Amino acid sequence: MTTELVKTESPSTLLSVRGLRVEFPIRRGMFSKKQVIRAVDDVTFDLRSGETFALVGESGSGKSTTARAILRLVDVVAGSVLLDGVDVTRLSKQELRATRRNMQMVFQDPYSSLDPSRTVGDAIAEPLEVHTDLDAAERRSKVGDLLEQVGLERAHAERYPHEFSGGQRQRIAIARAIAVEPKLVIADEAVSALDVSTQNQVIALLERLSAELGIAYLFIAHDLAVVRHIAQTTAVMYLGRIVEWGPSERLFTEPAHPYTQALLSAVPVPDPERQRRRERIRLSGELPDPADPPGGCAFNTRCPLVMPICREQSPAVTEVSGGGQVACHLSTT
Ligand SMILES: Nc1ncnc2c1ncn2[C@@H]1O[C@H](COP(=O)(O)OP(=O)(O)O)[C@@H](O)[C@H]1O
Ligand code: SF4
Ligand SMILES: [Mg+2]
Repeated sequence: MTTELVKTESPSTLLSVRGLRVEFPIRRGMFSKKQVIRAVDDVTFDLRSGETFALVGESGSGKSTTARAILRLVDVVAGSVLLDGVDVTRLSKQELRATRRNMQMVFQDPYSSLDPSRTVGDAIAEPLEVHTDLDAAERRSKVGDLLEQVGLERAHAERYPHEFSGGQRQRIAIARAIAVEPKLVIADEAVSALDVSTQNQVIALLERLSAELGIAYLFIAHDLAVVRHIAQTTAVMYLGRIVEWGPSERLFTEPAHPYTQALLSAVPVPDPERQRRRERIRLSGELPDPADPPGGCAFNTRCPLVMPICREQSPAVTEVSGGGQVACHLSTT
């Protein structure tokens, strides 16, 4: 029995991740034996051109490592990452450079991606220098266009990152990410540090850019409330695995996995009846040690609906009515 979540590839598939596994060696104390953390375990999903696909789950569930593996910023132990049918995990360094043009990233903290000693204009021009033949004047003009495209002013190119608010800095990071017209932008907790109204503005900007430029997003967030409106498809990760995925519409109204239900019980809904039903499932306890995950279903130590079989067997993957798949013994019986 396999627990792999598989979607069939269609012609409009932009990114196809299959059986992705990433491990980190760890050593705890001088005399303890070497252990590994399987940060990403058998992760499989497809992202269509122009689509927004959300990856959600608590901190430590493997979201950022999945993103970094797709960009080949960490080594992949097993699996494949196909961008436009080309396996990124097998490319040489040189081939990878060309492919990176099509995959750009926006991080939670723009300070980590924006050099404080360089002007905003220089930061946005950098990918243009690496990936295009534009001369200095053309780059300057393009930077001005990009600033306007993300709701800032051309004159902002001369300023430094610290002169901007958090929301404006994310706009700058987005301008830089879209400068080379990538097909895919990975937004890793890109709005998580912003207040709710700024979050909504940045999400509206991302949606507009997707509509205008056909960009697809892999949108990563620990907070489910944030992804509901931007993502057509949502996948939920727990201890390195996708435990449920499906059309956001279905997943948010009829979550099939107890973990998804628990995450959603923290998100208020307007319908009081649905709110009451949801509150029955609360998430308790800490995320288990990822170096020593529970056997059977990895969620069994925190699942309010746990059964004896959950401690012995890993649940098979089944289809969910309304779309998507789930890995839970409750759905196989
Ligand atoms: N470079 C690393 N070395 C060792 N462990 C790591 C490294 N990066 C991430 N991890 C571990 O991998 C797991 C997944 O981390 P991460 O992908 O950052 O999760 P998320 O983005 O969902 O918070 C965590 O247990 C984390 O501690
Ligand atoms: S398989 Fe068992 S422990 Fe895991 S989520 Fe389902 S009911 Fe809970
Ligand atoms: Mg992360």
